[in-house]
Amino acid sequence: MMRTASQTLFAAAVCVTLPVVASAQSWSDQPVKPAEHTDEVAVSYEDGGIYYNEDDIPTYNASEDGTVDWMTFSGFRRYHSECHVCHGPDGEGSTYAPKIKNSAVHMDYYDFYDVVVNGRQNGNSVMPHFGDNPNVMCYLNDIYVYLKARGMDAVPRGRPAKKEAKSDLIREMEDACMG
Ligand code: HEC
Repeated sequence: MMRTASQTLFAAAVCVTLPVVASAQSWSDQPVKPAEHTDEVAVSYEDGGIYYNEDDIPTYNASEDGTVDWMTFSGFRRYHSECHVCHGPDGEGSTYAPKIKNSAVHMDYYDFYDVVVNGRQNGNSVMPHFGDNPNVMCYLNDIYVYLKARGMDAVPRGRPAKKEAKSDLIREMEDACMG
């Protein structure tokens, strides 16, 4: 388990050459019905403070008392420094860019990565590529799980009130990624 999990994350963090899958479709307009996605987001196992679903895809862990896992908290911060200028606070979307809290639920994990790594253009509507930006790439799983939690309404808008501690594994991976 541990090996698979680390490999998944490692591959996700460093792989900047995924093939471009052309798609003009926006998932952001599709409303999210959380009950239809509970299996996809359910925590299957935890490894060093990082939570995974049964397909080894990172997911969030939100407790009823409002505590979120470190990655979700970190994703909140990273999203608001790198993405919210276009996509609006809390992943809610703007007149300019889609409501990506919905996209994070509807899109396949790898498709989500692909758009962020390679960017996408649809006429005048341009999503920049971030594949060469470590401030995004080293935290893209964080941003992804944060947006997924928002799309599922598992965390409220705004800064999460309580968070789990940052684990040694997360610290090590961050240091390795940021160089
Ligand atoms: C300069 C503005 C801008 C910034 C900054 C930006 N985006 Fe986007 N993004 C867009 C636009 C515009 C689109 C829609 C592109 C299209 O029409 O194909 C988009 C589309 C997307 C999509 C596809 C949504 C869907 O439903 O198909 C994802 C995922 C996405 N952005 C993620 C991110 C993430 C994550 C960040 C921060 C790391 C980010 N974006 C930062 C402008 C931006």
